[in-house]
This record gives sequence, C-alpha cells and structure tokens, in this order.
Amino acid sequence: MTFDQITNRHNTHSMKWDMMEKLYGVSAEEGISMWVADMDFQAADPIKAELKAMLDHGVLGYYGDDASYRAAIGWWMKTRHGWEPDPEAIFTTHGLVNGVALCVDAYTKPGDGIVLFTPVYHAFARIIRAAGREVVECELANHDGRYELDVAAWDAQMKGHETMLVLSSPHNPGGRVWTRAELEAIRDFCIRHDLLLISDEIHHDLVFPGVTHTPFALIEGVEDRLIMMSATTKTFNIAGIHLGNVIIPDTDLRKPFAARMAALGISGNSFGYRLAEAAYSPAGARWVDDLVTYLDGNRKLFDDRLNALPGVRSMPLESTYLAWVDFSGTGMAQDEVNARVLKQAKLAVNLGPTFGKGGESFLRFNFATPRSVVEEAADRLAEAFADLQ
Ligand SMILES: Cc1ncc(COP(=O)(O)O)c(C=O)c1O
Repeated sequence: MTFDQITNRHNTHSMKWDMMEKLYGVSAEEGISMWVADMDFQAADPIKAELKAMLDHGVLGYYGDDASYRAAIGWWMKTRHGWEPDPEAIFTTHGLVNGVALCVDAYTKPGDGIVLFTPVYHAFARIIRAAGREVVECELANHDGRYELDVAAWDAQMKGHETMLVLSSPHNPGGRVWTRAELEAIRDFCIRHDLLLISDEIHHDLVFPGVTHTPFALIEGVEDRLIMMSATTKTFNIAGIHLGNVIIPDTDLRKPFAARMAALGISGNSFGYRLAEAAYSPAGARWVDDLVTYLDGNRKLFDDRLNALPGVRSMPLESTYLAWVDFSGTGMAQDEVNARVLKQAKLAVNLGPTFGKGGESFLRFNFATPRSVVEEAADRLAEAFADLQ
C-alpha cells in the first residue's frame, strides 16, 4: 500500500517539516509535523507521469489554451459532485487564499464587515484584516462535539455594514459537511443581510463514507450572489502548484472579478495547469478513492486513541484529515496542554485560538501521514497525558 510509504521531507523546503522548529519550537530531529493541511503521501501516478513528460520534453515556456483544463474541471465536478460548471465561469487564481483575497478586493471596500463562521481556517481572517476590512466572527454552536449553525444569534449580531460571507464547505476545522438544509439556511442568511457568498469547497473530495457534499451551486436561489471555489491541491496533495478555481455562475458577477484579475496581471503557471489536468482523470479518481479509505482508517485509529484519554475529545469528522481535538475536559490550562503536546510529545500542531472564536481549548492535528506515524503520535500523546489515566 503506497500510503504506508515514509518519505523523508526534511530539507526539501517543505513548509510543514522545515518550518516546524521555527514556528512551533518543535525539534526537526525528534518532532512529528502535524500542522498545515499538507499530506505526507507521494503524488498520484498520473501527476508524476505528466511532470516527467514535461521534463523529458525539456522546454518550459508559457502555457496557452486552457480549454482541456476547463473541460477536466467540468468532468470532475460532474462525475464526482453532480454539477457541471459553465467553462466560461471558471477563473484560475494562485490558489484559493488568493481567490478569497481577490474577492475581498473586487467586491468589498475598506471598513466593510466580512462574516466568518468561527472557528474557521485562519488565513481567511488574516487576508481580510490585511485588506483593511473587518472580520465579523459568528461563532458556530458546539452541540455535543458537533458544529451547528446558530443563525438566530448571528441575525441579532449583524450591524448592517457586512457585505460578504466566506464559508468553508466542508468546514475546516471540525470537518462538518453541511447538509442541504444547512446550506439553504446559509443562503437565506445571506439574502436577509445582502451578503455575497464565497463558498470555499477545497475539501470537497475528502469526504468520509456515508456523507455527501453538496456544491453550493446546486442550492436554488443563490446564483446572483454565489462565488464557488475548488482546487486539485488539497485533494491530490499538490499545494505547491498554487492553482485554484474560482467559479462564478452569474455572468454579471463575473465582471468585477475579471477586471481585478486583469488589473493585477494574474495568470496561472504551466506546471499547475498540466498537473491539475492530469489529476482530474479516471486514474486520479481511483487514487482519491483509495486515499479516502486510508484516511478513514487513520481517522478511526487517531480518534480511538485520543478519546481514550480522559477529558480529551476529538470531534467526529465527516470530512478533511484534520482532527480537531478539545482538551477542555482535562481541566488543564491551555498553556499546559500546549506544552505537553508541543514540548513533551514533540508534535507540531495548529493552536486552536488561531481559528477564531470557539477555538480556545482546541488543537488541530493533521493525520494525513503514513499510519505508523499516526500510531507513533498517538503513543506520544498517551505518554504525555499518562497522569490522567
Ligand atoms: C478552507 C481552506 N481554503 C483554502 C486553503 C488553502 O488554499 P490554497 O493553498 O489554494 O491557497 C486551505 C488550506 O488548508 C483551506 O483549508
């Protein structure tokens, strides 16, 4: 099984492994890196074959004619998610953080409020603040270890200066796959408060058995305010290509976005286009199916081991490979928990508060790594919290 293969990523300019000492103080020699959403698995064969073909050809010039790339996105969305975008609706950005930043730039003005359902992927707040807009944190309700919408509370919270909602669908962290009813409630919330809806669906392929992701474009009555985003990067672990799709179904809504792209001179890179197109193939689809099965095994193993520690609770994930673990039941101060995980167990993990309101007592663990590494991490945690047992 290839997902069991351990690949040494040290000294490869890997953000995940080569920055953990600087960012988290976790020793590169002894530490295990479980932070940023980047998997430790080899890329799928069709992706490697395409890269090899590019290098064998040897001339690495400008890319042109993206019709086959757009068609590949259409095929993937249709076969995997039951919705096919108009090829003209697709814009190619330098990834989805860049896509969100472009939306903030194109559709809002300084001082506008931009709504986030927190805790949520931390880069959203970072770029919103950097652009001089205000982050409006609407905290998700944590009902018995499951995030749910709290629309009535959020309605009361709106001040009138909010112009946009950035949604993570599926949700990072917490791994919720929003149901149709929830997506409709989000649509109605956006209509009530006249918000543009940015639906970042980067995790849409990493959904566990028994759950179905619904692309927001399948929800009626939202087309004139919807911007959807998808990418190959999270699904296929090729974040280094820095390429994402911003999909804007409404033709009028496309115009401000296209204008900002043109003004900033944004265009994709040939590695990104060609590797993403190779990924969106029948062989790529089989690899993703195998990947999700493997991740599901890691999820079960990690959750079983963590939930056996008194007071520690890992949120049941419907999607993503990012375990969201609540330590509040241990009764320890968060500094103590962090010290045990980072310093004693030597695991580099994301700290909950960076995800906004509601994340205070949590740590996020990336378990997309060979199973033996997940086992080692679980052993270290059991030792670090042995006095609880
Ligand atoms: C919800 C979400 N959006 C976007 C990204 C990053 O996207 P990109 O690498 O395309 O900028 C991540 C990465 O973890 C994410 O979780």
